[in-house]
Amino acid sequence: MSGPVSLTRHLIEAQRAGHIEPDLRLLIEVVARACKSISVAVGRGALGGVLGDAVSAAGGDSVNVQGEAQKKLDVLSNEILLEANAWGGHLAACASEEMEHCQPIPDAYPRGAYLLLFDPLDGSSNIDVNVSVGTIFSVLRCPENVETVGDEHFLQPGTAQVAAGYCVYGPQTTLVLTIGQGTHAFTLDREQGAFVQTRSDIRIPGETREFAINMSNQRHWEPAMQGYVSELLAGREGPRGKDFNMRWVASMVADVHRILTRGGIFIYPWDRKDPGKPGKLRLMYEANPMAMLVEQAGGAATDGRGRILDIAPTTLHQRVPVFLGSKAEVEVATRQHCEHDAAHAGATTA
Ligand code: AHG
Ligand code: MN
Ligand code: MN
Repeated sequence: MSGPVSLTRHLIEAQRAGHIEPDLRLLIEVVARACKSISVAVGRGALGGVLGDAVSAAGGDSVNVQGEAQKKLDVLSNEILLEANAWGGHLAACASEEMEHCQPIPDAYPRGAYLLLFDPLDGSSNIDVNVSVGTIFSVLRCPENVETVGDEHFLQPGTAQVAAGYCVYGPQTTLVLTIGQGTHAFTLDREQGAFVQTRSDIRIPGETREFAINMSNQRHWEPAMQGYVSELLAGREGPRGKDFNMRWVASMVADVHRILTRGGIFIYPWDRKDPGKPGKLRLMYEANPMAMLVEQAGGAATDGRGRILDIAPTTLHQRVPVFLGSKAEVEVATRQHCEHDAAHAGATTA
């Protein structure tokens, strides 16, 4: 029997093939259902009264643990994901960009074997201007024999992820998923209310002529980063011998979705604008899930020096530089950073 493959069928077949346990299938179905609700809220926009800044209990601007102003849709999306995942019995705890600490499953419900991390709404600066935003998620196994789940149980490297994905709310709502068996895309059929597989085993072209970076930070970058991008900008006449094009949506989900569609390199490097921060993007619920999706699609993801998925996390909200996309291009950027480090090893900055 052929015909469109729904997300449900894809997951049931993965379970039959022994790739996922029933509880992980349920978890992914629940996340997908929450993404449908978020898609409806995002799609209604001003009609639903969901645009604009969130207001704190005290009546002022609402700020999350990152010190960033929260939009109404950041808060709403977080609540939708928490509520949807509370009662299914598949999770031990959730952690989110919008919450300082993880939230264990309420005592009233059975506790499951998995930990779920999410960026409930990525690309907040694009919400009010009708540009694509998304949800990013990562699934880990809860360590065994844990009495009370705490933040420390989430601090596992990206290689420990058992599933990762994002849902982009753009002209189409598309869920992109990996359970470690390739990266697959499912488009929301709004009439049927179901995610239908529209791409299977996505492969990112190995080489590219397109880069994504916020150029307004250029003066704050380290020398290796300055050198790499100046070579791209030099185009055909420069050492790379080809012209490059630039794109920057400022929603990581949308930039990564483009790269999974036609290749490219996405970079959010460390910069001196806020030297205390090792990068802008968060390791646990932005960099790690995207790195797994990209690697499963034949691409590469590094922090400019080494593989993102190998980083041993130390805190729930830690930040990291991100270089991801077409394998050969990520390797060039990473190699240039490592060579710069080697050439300057032992040099003092006094
Ligand atoms: P979030 O909205 O979840 O805080 O993440 C925003 C991130 C990411 O989506 C995007 O790539 C980047 O911030 C945009 O940064 P600039 O505002 O510096 O362009
Ligand atoms: Mn984000
Ligand atoms: Mn966010």
